[in-house]
Amino acid sequence: VKRTPLIAGNWKLNLDHLQAIAFVQKLHWKLEEGNHDYADAEVAVFPPFTDLRSVQTLAAADKYSLAYGAQDLSAHDSGAYTGEISGAFLAALDAKYVLIGHSERREYHHETDELIAEKVAAAHRHGIVPIICVGETADDLEKHGASAVPVAQLRTALGGAKKGSEVVVAYEPVWAIGSGQAATAEQAQQVAEALRAVVAEELGAEAGESTRILYGGSVKSGNIAGFLREKDVDGALVGGASLVVDEFAAIVRFKS
Ligand code: G3H
Repeated sequence: VKRTPLIAGNWKLNLDHLQAIAFVQKLHWKLEEGNHDYADAEVAVFPPFTDLRSVQTLAAADKYSLAYGAQDLSAHDSGAYTGEISGAFLAALDAKYVLIGHSERREYHHETDELIAEKVAAAHRHGIVPIICVGETADDLEKHGASAVPVAQLRTALGGAKKGSEVVVAYEPVWAIGSGQAATAEQAQQVAEALRAVVAEELGAEAGESTRILYGGSVKSGNIAGFLREKDVDGALVGGASLVVDEFAAIVRFKS
């Protein structure tokens, strides 16, 4: 199976809607300059909620069909949940993807694997592809090795997935996020292979083959190609480097 690589830029709590407009326009020019070929990689950005409408408007006019998504969603569809954003709202903005269970949500907002499974179900109810984020802390790595925690996190999260609906998995070792200390391509491959086996067990052999597994954690233009050479790594979830247009465009053009 051919899995089209996905290069996803998670802006986190950066860039307001005016800055988002400027960013997406510059990215478009950069990709045009480099003759970006979408057969090589799909590109998606994950702005704050308040930027999504602006990004939708620009993406609709973008011949490169930039994809976009949200950084989180509510497990609920509507009701008395102050401050929450539903999958229905995201679908109304044509969001293709939603990040679920990012380590910063797990750490600062105490999201559990069970809640994350409910959010995966919410995304699928509204036809949005969940990007399920998993990864071990430095402490987990020392105590249990690299794969055990991400494998367990993914197994629970997939309990919320609808059979036959697409998921994307992002393997992000917590110790590699924002640290400048990326995992090696071999480390990423080892865990990605274990995660692919979990997808196959939980969602079937076909999903195991077709599901894209991204690596995240200090990805930059200088190390992206190494990750993408690995057989089970199908893209990247990029944080810091996704905020710099030239650098993000260079990551997207990983083949050159
Ligand atoms: O979602 C993105 C990750 O948390 C990676 O962030 O590229 O700044 O290490 P980073």
